Amino acid sequence: MSEALHVIVLAAGQGKRMHSEIPKVLHPVLFRPMLHHVIDLAKALSPKSLCIVVGHGEAEVRASCEGIEGLEFVTQSSQRGTGHAVQQAVPRFQKEAGRVLVLSGDVILLTKQTLQSLLAAKGRANVLTAKPHAAASYGRILRSGSGEFLAIREYRDCSESEKQVTEVNSGVYVFEIPALVEALKGLGDSNHQGEFYLTDVIEILSKKGEPCEAVCMSDADEMAGANDRADLAQVENIMRTRVNLAWMRQGVGMQDPATTWVDPRCSFGQDVYLEAGCRIVQSTISSGAVIESGSRITHSKVGRRSVIRQGSILEESKVGVDCSVGPYARLRPGSELGDEVKIGNFVEVKQSTMGTGSKASHLSYIGDAEIGEGVNIGCGFITCNYDGKKKHRTIIEDGVFIGSDSQTVAPVRIGKGSYIASGSTITKDVPADSLVFSRGKQTTKPGYAVRYRKE
Ligand code: UD1
Ligand code: CA
Repeated sequence: MSEALHVIVLAAGQGKRMHSEIPKVLHPVLFRPMLHHVIDLAKALSPKSLCIVVGHGEAEVRASCEGIEGLEFVTQSSQRGTGHAVQQAVPRFQKEAGRVLVLSGDVILLTKQTLQSLLAAKGRANVLTAKPHAAASYGRILRSGSGEFLAIREYRDCSESEKQVTEVNSGVYVFEIPALVEALKGLGDSNHQGEFYLTDVIEILSKKGEPCEAVCMSDADEMAGANDRADLAQVENIMRTRVNLAWMRQGVGMQDPATTWVDPRCSFGQDVYLEAGCRIVQSTISSGAVIESGSRITHSKVGRRSVIRQGSILEESKVGVDCSVGPYARLRPGSELGDEVKIGNFVEVKQSTMGTGSKASHLSYIGDAEIGEGVNIGCGFITCNYDGKKKHRTIIEDGVFIGSDSQTVAPVRIGKGSYIASGSTITKDVPADSLVFSRGKQTTKPGYAVRYRKE
C-alpha cells in the first residue's frame, strides 16, 4: 500500500466486565499486557503514525508503554464510546490523505496477514468480520438481500431477527480519512448504552451511497476479544497454542504443550526439550537444553545442552554450556554461570559469577561473589554478604575447595587452590594454597554418656 497508513488503538475503556483495579488493556496475556501485543501487531504494518487512545487508568497505561518507540497518546477523558474515542485521535491527521486503521486494545490475536486482507479492501470504510461458533454479544453485520453491507448493529440494540445473524464485527476497521472525519460528525448516542459507537459510521456512510466492505476472516479465533476473565483465559490459550506449535515445528520438543507457557519473545535452539509445566519469558534457550517440569525462566540465557532441573527459577541470569541447575535452585538477577557448572538442590545464587567446572551441589547461598574455575563448594556454604547496612563482595579463586557448613564473611578473598575446612567461618583473606581451620577444637570425654544417663 503506497498511501500513508495511520493506526489508532482504542485503549481507554475501563473493562467493567473484568471486575478489576487493573485497566483492561494491561491484563497480561503470555506475560505481557494485552496492549503490547496490539502495538506489535500495528508496528508490523510500518504505519506512518501510531496513536493510543487512553483514558481509564491512563497513567498506568502510559507507564506500561515507556521505552516503546514511535507511540503517540491521546486522552479520552470520559469514556463515551468507541466512536467518541476515535474522535479524540482524528485531529492528529484529519487534514492528511491516506487511511486510518482502528484496532482494539482487547483484540490481540489478529495476524499480519489478516490485517493485510482488510487493508486490501477498497471501500471508504472496511470492517474485519468473522463467523465464530458463538456469535455471543458481538455487533452483528447487517446486509441487504443482495449481500450489500449496510450497518453494524450492537447486540443490545438488535431485534430478535438481527440477533440471528452469524457474521459479527471484530472491532477492527480501516477508513479513508476524509470519509471517517465526515461520518464521525453524524454520530449520535441514542442507543442502549447511550454511547457514541464507531460502528454507526458504517450506516452513515452506506446511507450516503459510499462503498463499505465487510471482510470476513477465515479463522474466527483471531477475532476473540478479551472482555472478561474467561475470555482472557481463552485468548491466552489460543495464543499459547499458536506459539507452542510454531516452536514444535522448528524442532523444539514439548512434553505437554497444554501446560507449557512460552512468551512470544523467547528463542529456542533445536532439540530443546521442555517438560510439562514450565514457563519461559523473554529468554534464549540454546540447542539441546532441557527445562524440566515446573521451572520458571525469565530474561535469561541457557547454554547448549544445559539442564535446568525440576522446579528451578532463573531470573536475569546466564547459564553456560553443559551446566546442570537444580532441582529447586534459584538463580536471582545477575547470576552468570560459566560452562559445566553444577548448581544443585536448594542453592541460591545472586549477582555472582561462577567459572568453568565449579560446583555448589547442595543447600548454599552465593551472593555478590566472584567464583573462579574448578571451585568445589560443599553443602551448606554461605557467603555472608550483608552487614545490615551494605552488601560486600566475596572472591573465591580458581581451584578452591570449601568444606561443608562453612561461611565467608565479606569482604573477603580466598586465594587460589586453598582448602577451607568444614565448619569454618572465614573472616580474613586467605593466601593461595593454604589450609584454613576456623572452628572450635574437639573435646572428647570417653564414657561420659554412660555416667550421665545414670545420674
Ligand atoms: C466492540 C464493538 C462490537 C464488536 C466488538 C469486537 C462498538 C460499539 N462495538 O464492542 O461491535 O463486536 O468490539 O470485540 O464499537 N474504548 C475506548 N473508549 C470508549 C469505549 C471503548 O477507548 O469510550 C476501547 C476499549 O478500551 C476497547 C475497545 O475500545 O479496547 C472496544 O471497547 P469494548 O467496550 O470492549 O467494546 P465491545 O463491547 O467489545
Ligand atoms: Ca471488547
